[in-house]
Amino acid sequence: MRVKNKFKESFILHCNAGGRLFPLVIGCLLFLHLFSFAHQRYAQSGETHLSTNQRTQFSILERVEEENIQLPQPRKRSTRAAKRKPKRPTTFIDEFLDESSQLRNVFFPDQRTAVDSRKDNGNDTYYYHPGRIWLDTEGNPIQAHGGGILYDSRTKMYYWYGEYKDGPTYHAHKKGAARVDVIGVSCYSSKDLWTWKNEGIVLAAEEKNETHDLYKLNVLERPKVIHNEKTGKYVMWMHIDDANYTKASVGVAISDLPTGPFNYLYSKRSHGYDSRDMTLFKDDDGVAYLIYSSEHNKDLHIGPLNEEYIDVTESMRKILIGQHREAPALFKHQGTYYMITSGCTSWSPNEALVHASESIMGPWETIGNPCIGGNKIFRLTTFFAQGTFVVPLSGVPGLFIFMADRWNPADLKDSRYVWLPLTVGRPLDHRPEYSFGLPLWSRVSIYWHKKWRLPYR
Ligand SMILES: *[C@@H]1O[C@H](CO)[C@@H](O)[C@H](O)[C@H]1NC(C)=O
Ligand SMILES: *[C@@H]1O[C@H](CO)[C@@H](O)[C@H](O)[C@H]1NC(C)=O
Ligand SMILES: *[C@@H]1O[C@H](CO)[C@@H](O)[C@H](O)[C@H]1NC(C)=O
Repeated sequence: MRVKNKFKESFILHCNAGGRLFPLVIGCLLFLHLFSFAHQRYAQSGETHLSTNQRTQFSILERVEEENIQLPQPRKRSTRAAKRKPKRPTTFIDEFLDESSQLRNVFFPDQRTAVDSRKDNGNDTYYYHPGRIWLDTEGNPIQAHGGGILYDSRTKMYYWYGEYKDGPTYHAHKKGAARVDVIGVSCYSSKDLWTWKNEGIVLAAEEKNETHDLYKLNVLERPKVIHNEKTGKYVMWMHIDDANYTKASVGVAISDLPTGPFNYLYSKRSHGYDSRDMTLFKDDDGVAYLIYSSEHNKDLHIGPLNEEYIDVTESMRKILIGQHREAPALFKHQGTYYMITSGCTSWSPNEALVHASESIMGPWETIGNPCIGGNKIFRLTTFFAQGTFVVPLSGVPGLFIFMADRWNPADLKDSRYVWLPLTVGRPLDHRPEYSFGLPLWSRVSIYWHKKWRLPYR
């Protein structure tokens, strides 16, 4: 990857030299060609780590799967009503947000199609069905929204933490966003990333104490947990807010066990700034970072945590300045950092973007929309979902799980999970792009599938 950046610099250097332009352009193009050839070779050598079987299964995940959903016929209105208020054309997003839409069952399939790991699913075992109700090992819908996954090498288990949502969805006041009372952070454990056992609420809301950060009428979103090797503690960070999102803080809690209970420490405005959607990223060298939307979601901020992971340090960089991104999810592949973000449209789905950087503190460069398949509106709405985490998988290099939430603002507890395969690189199946064309960054792709499973067991 570093090669590419060196090349990028030299490219800018040579091609901006001006003067005798024509031979220079030819030279640059030749260089480009050679470079992308070299790049392809480089990528191919990475490929040899996969067995033939894995490669076959991998390419199944990279099949482009189309969706053919149609907008329903507009409902009949009296001519009088139509005259009074001409109706603007309905969009897929309107249908998605409309509880009585004929497409409701497309976006929110009902209980009958629930994914249930307790049943003998035959050939359907281990299949993810994005958008369907997903049951835990007790037969209850998994409640872990805005979540993230920790792989714990000590117990060799995956732990999924998220917002436990239950009870009525309501508006705190006229202009307030749809909400539910805070119940707490849930934890589910799994060995296979498909069968999930409920480990209970590991950080519970405060029922009575109105001055407490975790008071049920406040906001607790996007909890993420990492493990600190030095202290042995499991450390949770989360977005803490009041119902009007004016507190804009991060909260910290710690536990001796991945399954809690977590002890809530405090909240603060990191680096003195407002902070809303956030995530954590723990790098290979053990340094962990907090990434959060700030300055009223205009920018993202990133900075390393201290050694114990219970506070930020003074070091902070502003990234993706003025780009209005939220819901960050970071991952790393072959030394390059990647981040998926969403736009800021509250519960309504929007277009995901992927950003890349050679150094975690930046500069970060926006590459584009990673979504592939479905149809145009699926790709422009992140498959009617919003990213929350990217799960690294050890078995197959270049394969990750993209975790997203399909929010249901009419009934937030019935929000769904959209998990899809995310791949990095993979130029073998794709011709190198010459869009002047050199692939400065490896392609990050999230493939839509109605059902899919991991290529190894
Ligand atoms: C499972 O797959 C096998 C082999 O493809 C097939 O013969 C069998 O009918 C399938 N079973 C079910 C229940 O679909
Ligand atoms: C309520 O929460 C605040 C803030 O955490 C704390 O200082 C106070 O002691 C709590 N009150 C009770 C009665 O627990
Ligand atoms: C939130 O804003 C509304 C309307 O401005 C106000 O009535 C309410 O008191 C505020 N609530 C909090 C918790 O700040």
